[in-house]
Amino acid sequence: MSSAGPRPRVVLGVSGGIAAYKACELLRRFTESGHDVTVVPTAAALEFVGAPTWAALSGKPVSAEVWTGVHEVPHVRLGQTADLVVVAPATADLLAKAAHGLADDLLTNTLLTARCPVVLAPAMHTEMWEHPATTANVATLRSRGVLVIEPAEGRLTGADTGKGRLPDPEEIFEVARDVLGRSTSATPGGPADLAGRHVVVSAGGTRERLDPVRFLGNRSSGRQGYALARAAAARGAEVTLVAANVALTDPAGVKVVHVESTAELRDAVLSAAATADAVVMAAAPADFRPTAQSETKIKKADDGSAPSITLQQNPDILKEISTHRVHPGAVIVGFAAETGDATGSVLDLARAKLARKGCDLLVVNDVSGGAVFGSTDNEAVILGADGSAVDVPHGSKSALAHLIWDQVVARLAPSSPQYTS
Ligand code: CTP
Repeated sequence: MSSAGPRPRVVLGVSGGIAAYKACELLRRFTESGHDVTVVPTAAALEFVGAPTWAALSGKPVSAEVWTGVHEVPHVRLGQTADLVVVAPATADLLAKAAHGLADDLLTNTLLTARCPVVLAPAMHTEMWEHPATTANVATLRSRGVLVIEPAEGRLTGADTGKGRLPDPEEIFEVARDVLGRSTSATPGGPADLAGRHVVVSAGGTRERLDPVRFLGNRSSGRQGYALARAAAARGAEVTLVAANVALTDPAGVKVVHVESTAELRDAVLSAAATADAVVMAAAPADFRPTAQSETKIKKADDGSAPSITLQQNPDILKEISTHRVHPGAVIVGFAAETGDATGSVLDLARAKLARKGCDLLVVNDVSGGAVFGSTDNEAVILGADGSAVDVPHGSKSALAHLIWDQVVARLAPSSPQYTS
């Protein structure tokens, strides 16, 4: 985050679930990245983690009810002045109160007075999450523009497992940062303009096995693809993320298919693309693979000679899905990292690549001045097959992701329903 400008004001609500302790980690992420955080626990949350912990970690006094510091009218002021309200964990009870506008403590009052984006990260037992009352409350909240993150699946309190775990604090932080980044735009909280759509995003770099311990690979971190998946989920899409060899937390509410090689990536993308309204190929698939894989470890020769490795070309997935469109009307997006050469500028080469691949949009990174790989920021031009060119100034991968989705949304066929009740 940039140090310029006022620190974003975040209200971190914590309701009474065992996952309250994980909100300490989330709080640290916010404060360490320059956010001004006020923690508002519920009385039940304080049964799990006490006020001194929140006060020490946030550097501010903490209260659960509206009768502390009444002269400052905290029950109204906190919500009015916040740039973002995040509740983690959000219990079934908190969701119900928020959906029905109840306000019997400081957190629920803050939720009623907030005019900024609101992110709720539910955590509860599977039965509670799947109860029709909770389903209806979540639908109500989402219809009002509240971003309710899908809970994760896994170990719950006690021995049981299922859907209802609080997503990783790192993931909640990324979602919150994404929302904060967008709230400076004209549509606070952002549009749910991908609701009812299925989108596929590929991310990361594929590995081609040479022998049981070696592979040919590349330096793609997968960050841009993950930012795209997270942004699409925040805009209401059903997202399939095909991830090749990334060391990142799975985005919440996204179906993640982990793959290793270009062949596996191709299979996963093709199968998901059959029902997709958009496919974004942000992955860096290896263009070549060894013609033969050794079943045993390739040994050094005593005479100092090195083995020759013969390579063969991998299929070009982007070209294949653009040429044989299984889902007519789907918008297909490619990426290109270009340096320009004697035959043309970065944009000349990119336009030629767009035509060669046959996709609808090509996101072009000029990498002549240094690497984009692994960094958290990006700078690009989004070229359209219709001749359009959108310059994206230097900014976060999340900001670029949203601009790419803006371009995709503008090209989606209106046939399938955009908004469902
Ligand atoms: N891509 C793909 N399948 C491959 C290689 C690349 O689908 N086997 C996709 C990438 O995900 C990216 C786009 O194609 O969206 C651009 O890839 P790039 O490697 O830059 O294109 P190439 O055609 O390989 O061009 P160049 O000769 O410049 O490497």
